[in-house]
Amino acid sequence: MQPDLSVRLGKLVLKNPVMVASGTFGYAAEFRDFVDVRKLGAIVTKTITLKPRQGNPGPRTCETPSGMLNSIGLENPGLDAFIDEKLPPVAQLGVPVIVSIASEHDPEEFVTVARRLDKEKSVAALELNISCPNVKHAARGLRAGLIAQDPEATHAAVRAVRKATRKTLITKLSPNVTDICEIALAAQAAGSDALALINTLQGMSIDSATRRPKIAMGVGGLSGPAVRPIAVRMVWEVYRKTRIPIIGMGGIMDTASALEFIIAGATAVSVGTANFVNPSVSNEIVAGLVSYLKRSRAVTIQSMIGSLEL
Ligand SMILES: Cc1cc2nc3c(=O)[nH]c(=O)nc-3n(C[C@H](O)[C@H](O)[C@H](O)COP(=O)(O)O)c2cc1C
Repeated sequence: MQPDLSVRLGKLVLKNPVMVASGTFGYAAEFRDFVDVRKLGAIVTKTITLKPRQGNPGPRTCETPSGMLNSIGLENPGLDAFIDEKLPPVAQLGVPVIVSIASEHDPEEFVTVARRLDKEKSVAALELNISCPNVKHAARGLRAGLIAQDPEATHAAVRAVRKATRKTLITKLSPNVTDICEIALAAQAAGSDALALINTLQGMSIDSATRRPKIAMGVGGLSGPAVRPIAVRMVWEVYRKTRIPIIGMGGIMDTASALEFIIAGATAVSVGTANFVNPSVSNEIVAGLVSYLKRSRAVTIQSMIGSLEL
């Protein structure tokens, strides 16, 4: 008998827990020739904003030990072009589409974007990117640079979007905080159906020959296997303090690293940087989870969630 890989995130049921992380899979069409996209549990699209954004100047990425830095700066075509041009092809793939959204200046933008997307039948869920470290929020009344660094601002943003949509709402958290549980609890209290963690960690890399930063913006977001132990620790901490599902990510490269997150308490996992190294890795992880469950004589992936033995 085939093990049951299905999981639930709010109202959304996924056939398996393997997703692709926002910003690392474009709008999915780009990857169609390299990976069987229909085998994924869900696709999370590149974060969009109300208005188009050109993003940051280059170089925008560089390799680092066991990872990479990026400072894309939320380049995207804006909401209208997303709905007209990007959404129809990805919606045809027959996989739940989770749309990642951000606000550029004013958290009210979240509400405008969420209201529009709420009307789109092909959108399965919204992921609130309150944690992108490459866009500074000078928004009113915020103590910190990112909404996800402030529990009150997180609560206010999630609550406002919650009122604007009946779709499954996921809040993506930043690891660039002292206590991620405080932010997770604020998102949960405001009505988020699920949490996604982690976004990238702020980092810097310098070329000693030129004495210049390797990416134009100086500071960027670190991702890849280098961040995995931090991400797994954060998932485990948030799992013990909250009661809504967690989508774990940060350095997942293969089945074993995906399982680390599930055993720590993640209901689903997202593959990010690994897509650049091996575009079909998400398919391989789905097959790997089936083999792992069979070997463990487990009938469901559910039985593995939070199964850490201490
Ligand atoms: C090039 C690049 C672009 C990214 N763009 C976004 C984005 O637009 N929105 C977002 O929420 N996260 C973005 N991320 C963060 C990833 O979704 C993910 O949270 C992070 O990279 C950790 O996972 P990983 O180590 O598997 O890549 C980006 C990451 C990379 C490497």
